[in-house]
Amino acid sequence: MRKFYPPMANTLSYLPMEKKKLILHGVLLLLLSLDHYHPYSRSLVLNLASSLHIPIHVLLDDELRLAAALAETIKNVEPAELLQRRAEQQAKCAKKWKPGSGGRSGPVPSGGTGLAVPLLTAGIGAIASGLALGTSATAGILGAVAESSYVVATLFGLYIMRPSGKSMEQFAKEVPNFALKHVHDADTEGIEFGKIGPEHRRLRAVLCIGGWMTEDDITKPWRALGDSNEAYAFQWDPEALTKMGNALSTVLKSAAWSLAKKEIIARTSEKHSHAPEPHVVANKAGPVQASLDQNMWPSGLLRMSKTIDNPWIMGMVRADKTGYTLAEMIMSKVHGERGITLIGYSLGARVIYTCLMSLAEKRAFGLVENAILMGTPAPSGPLVWGTMKSVVSGRLVNVYSENDYILGFLYRTSCLQYGIAGLQRIEGIDGIENVNVTAKIGGHMRYQHLVGSILDHIGWEGIDREVVAADEKAMAILEEQSRERSERRDAVELNHESPAAVEAEVEVPKEEKEPEGIIRTRIKKKKKGRGRK
Ligand SMILES: *[C@@H]1O[C@H](CO)[C@@H](O)[C@H](O)[C@H]1NC(C)=O
Repeated sequence: MRKFYPPMANTLSYLPMEKKKLILHGVLLLLLSLDHYHPYSRSLVLNLASSLHIPIHVLLDDELRLAAALAETIKNVEPAELLQRRAEQQAKCAKKWKPGSGGRSGPVPSGGTGLAVPLLTAGIGAIASGLALGTSATAGILGAVAESSYVVATLFGLYIMRPSGKSMEQFAKEVPNFALKHVHDADTEGIEFGKIGPEHRRLRAVLCIGGWMTEDDITKPWRALGDSNEAYAFQWDPEALTKMGNALSTVLKSAAWSLAKKEIIARTSEKHSHAPEPHVVANKAGPVQASLDQNMWPSGLLRMSKTIDNPWIMGMVRADKTGYTLAEMIMSKVHGERGITLIGYSLGARVIYTCLMSLAEKRAFGLVENAILMGTPAPSGPLVWGTMKSVVSGRLVNVYSENDYILGFLYRTSCLQYGIAGLQRIEGIDGIENVNVTAKIGGHMRYQHLVGSILDHIGWEGIDREVVAADEKAMAILEEQSRERSERRDAVELNHESPAAVEAEVEVPKEEKEPEGIIRTRIKKKKKGRGRK
């Protein structure tokens, strides 16, 4: 925490820890009394906690307790009642800031303390170890939040009044098969935030966006995410994502791919050893970058492009469209009056990129708390990332791997002169965190198994280490399988079988299984090329 929120020198930091915790708690209550918990509020408490030398888990525990108590206040409230309260609340809002109309100095509202019963039983004025604000003081600080279930419901994104007037149903129509699934409560599936049990409500929301699908359970890559956030897996366009997933698996399992990978590596290392000339220095970014720079890909790989390019291009188009819709949703505060964090890999990270660019264009600042993009098919220029940073009030993280052959290959037809965020550091701009996972990510598809360990690495709070370990184990098994596969292939090669036979063994789409099929495609390609000229 100290790294991201450097402490400011102050005399309060010498107070006993209990007192400091109470100060933090009081400020948290005060911020909640503004009827929201926006990312700027969160930044403030993080800075405060850091300056008072309070460990972050204290803040997290406090947030959890407050969320639980607030969620309890609206547990048994009927929607109809909430809608009625909405009207009352609006009338009250008009008076809110006039002197002497409630507020801290005004009379305590009816019911003695003015605190809702669940808040009272949760001891909301107290910190865990006993020091407490008085009940009426707490009620005074919290103001409307303590009295109105409507305000609390709005905080959590329920029955919210949207400035755009667009309902969640309308948004959902723009994204094929859109759905939100709570990461830790697999039974919930809906198109709205907050339709979950009160025990899952939190003061901060997280949206997890995947980049392809190889199985139906979209929450799986995100299980490590711990319980300190209200985390949802964002389902978008399962059809396109499943096609992408199938294509990726097919290519990665193919002999052509493992040969191609070897060829790329051999080619670059050869250059490195034989020609220490200036132009090689440009290649120090790695073999993938070098292949991109020279636009030279092994022919075996280019043949696979038929399998993979179409789903990818389709995926990119859909991701951009989804990103625009997501930006609109966030501007409508469908997640409630609280911050939202976006995490995604591959095409999912593309969704986030488009979303942030769109938010910046609309000058929608202070809505997104953190954004973590992994293996992103998007430009890496400082201008782009500076624009994205303008709408992210917390951390903006670019997770990249210089070994991500698949990403480089897929992105080869896009605007390369602007770089690829998923392959390189973001340079020339402050405030962006770069995370180099080259050592961990050999292939693009590993991102789905490494989300937990990457998040743990960047200091995400409350990662479930057990899940991370299980994920890493699962990946080690896959790794082993793919190694065995390529060894088997090498053995075949050694037996002097023709390369065509090796390629035939590939589990590529059926029509390409026979060697003749491959030859036929080759001829077709040539013809096409000529046609264009
Ligand atoms: C990223 O990590 C790899 C391997 O750990 C290393 O070779 C490479 O130089 C690093 N890149 C940068 C830009 O630090």
